[in-house]
Amino acid sequence: MTFQQLIQQGIPTELPHSKPYDSNINHAPKRKEILSDEEKKLALKNALRYFEPKFHAELLPEFREELEKYGRIYMYRFRPDYEMKARPISEYPGKSEQAKAIMLMIQNNLDYAVAQHPHELITYGGNGAVFSNWAQYLLTMKYLSEMTDEQTLTMYSGHPMGLFPSHKDAPRVVVTNGMMIPNYSKPDDWEKFNALGVSQYGQMTAGSYMYIGPQGIVHGTTITVLNAFRKINKEPKGGLFVTSGLGGMSGAQPKAGNIAGCITVIAEVNPKITKIRHEQKWVNEIHENLDELVAKVRKAQENQETVSLAYLGNIVDIWEKFDEENLRIDIGSDQTSLHNPWAGGYYPVGQTFEESNTMMAESPELFREKVQETLRRHASAINKHTAKGTYFFDYGNAFLLEASRAGADVMSENPTIGREFKYPSYVQDIMGPMCFDYGFGPFRWVCTSGKPEDLQKTDDIACAVLEEMIKTSPEEIQQQMKDNITWIKGAQENNLVVGSQARILYADAEGRMKIAEAFNKAIANGEIGAVVLGRDHHDVSGTDSPYRETSNIYDGSRFTADMAIQNVIGDSFRGATWVSIHNGGGVGWGEVINGGFGMLLDGSDDADRRLKSMLFWDVNNGISRRSWARNEGAVFAIKRAMEAEPNLKVTLPNFVDESLF
Ligand SMILES: NC(=O)c1ccc[n+]([C@@H]2O[C@H](COP(=O)([O-])OP(=O)(O)OC[C@H]3O[C@@H](n4cnc5c(N)ncnc54)[C@H](O)[C@@H]3O)[C@@H](O)[C@H]2O)c1
Repeated sequence: MTFQQLIQQGIPTELPHSKPYDSNINHAPKRKEILSDEEKKLALKNALRYFEPKFHAELLPEFREELEKYGRIYMYRFRPDYEMKARPISEYPGKSEQAKAIMLMIQNNLDYAVAQHPHELITYGGNGAVFSNWAQYLLTMKYLSEMTDEQTLTMYSGHPMGLFPSHKDAPRVVVTNGMMIPNYSKPDDWEKFNALGVSQYGQMTAGSYMYIGPQGIVHGTTITVLNAFRKINKEPKGGLFVTSGLGGMSGAQPKAGNIAGCITVIAEVNPKITKIRHEQKWVNEIHENLDELVAKVRKAQENQETVSLAYLGNIVDIWEKFDEENLRIDIGSDQTSLHNPWAGGYYPVGQTFEESNTMMAESPELFREKVQETLRRHASAINKHTAKGTYFFDYGNAFLLEASRAGADVMSENPTIGREFKYPSYVQDIMGPMCFDYGFGPFRWVCTSGKPEDLQKTDDIACAVLEEMIKTSPEEIQQQMKDNITWIKGAQENNLVVGSQARILYADAEGRMKIAEAFNKAIANGEIGAVVLGRDHHDVSGTDSPYRETSNIYDGSRFTADMAIQNVIGDSFRGATWVSIHNGGGVGWGEVINGGFGMLLDGSDDADRRLKSMLFWDVNNGISRRSWARNEGAVFAIKRAMEAEPNLKVTLPNFVDESLF
């Protein structure tokens, strides 16, 4: 059968041969044993409902074995044999170009070069799933291949519920992931409902098919590192940035440090991952000896080198050793996966990687104690450095939250609402006031032709638009505009494309609309093929996350999720090609609600109308909320937006004189 026929077939009518477990691939860790015997039976019944009864007797023991061995039923046997990668859009079968674009994006999220655990359908973050099992993948692709522009596919946490009649301006796909009744949204609930096969963790861009490989995070991290150095009034040259994690997202840090021009020291406990990042040239050197590492850092500081140094070991050892040695750290952070602390996101100090993996599965309670003990040591070592002048920020990985839960010394002495911790989150100090409040966020696009020339042309178009805009941009946003023009000019050289031909930059509402409009014109003129627009959820409006995206909201509304819900509903009726809303992103299940969209530009007048309507809302929704929370940058930005668009009328806050209290 051809690739197209295989897609159209969906779940095969004859059982494929079972597949051997491929140990050359990076696999998800065994998940916690959480189901009772009765619940295991339910999980198996849930899995088998995808298949005709005649296959059940053969599949049951296999699925039972998967559940026992891995804690989940992935249905490995149904993994397709064709190569998993984004193909040019013309190669997908179907009646709807929009649906074909979504197929392309789904395959990109599962590409072996892109996905963290491709056989478990996990794109990044350890548990960020596109689907929970291969039957869901096969069925979804089949639906997409047969749908028209008068139908909408509803996705319930990876499960394709079906095609429903709608209309051409409606989204082709509506994705919800992990939406729970709030009282059932604790980490163990995720383990349980995911193991039962009825809910999944979509992370941010995994379950919404908008992951574009590491480029997105490299860009965001570069902007963060540059602005962190600006925050302490220091040039990156010769400055030292200490952090941890070389995983899906965290691995961007040494590359971003190199682009920013500083010295990066990064700890990683997993030897396989460390080797991959080194081979990819994302980190320059690997060190296993702490004394040698210290000597190397001193030399790099003296010579003001730009270099990134991985330490194969625990991050706590770095903070403690650098304190003993009195090494000056300028900027410090952490990007272990503390949104997932008990299942492999954070490794205890003083034991090997293998010992930890065994303990996690066999003695989860002891593992939990070790993690919390390590968090206390970790925070205490950081405190010693910050007392000597290090600027430390939480990098959106729930470090401060989990450290506080472990009883570490991270609480502020004089807490105010929103400033409970000793240290700010990167959004409180950097991304919030410098980017999000002004509407700057992670606008991205994918060239569906798969041609690098198209990407080059879109880079040129975006750059020309920004260069035109900066001539009249107000002082308040000049720095952001400059950083992004520099980024887009160097984008080809930084060689960041993995998987689909994709690009990211930060732009405000006006910039996003103008770039999209220019792309749509170029498509209409036949200069480039169709383009998918999107963003990650780490943005102005899409995400309500009290310790991350909305951590610089100080009016008490940080724990509400109205903005994210409004955003996805608003995007869906203003022309998005697909929309998604998730419980649980970078900071963990139950800790965040985040939404995203995808939009196909095909050069049509309809696309032009939709992009203007939807992008304007998609950014200004969040600016209005940030402005209502009294964030001054956002008040400035929303007033500017109202001047540009008379139909926008937003309630503005009145400021109260503090002395009245
Ligand atoms: N700041 C952002 O913009 C942003 C964006 C996305 C994700 N995140 C968050 O950052 C975290 C990391 O994401 P990821 O995709 O890289 O996850 P990941 O699980 O792929 O990588 C984390 C890495 O940390 C390593 N690690 C764990 N404990 C360690 C320890 N004590 N010492 C040294 N290394 C250790 C792990 O081996 C792993 O490779 C997540 O919590 C994620 O949600 C932040």
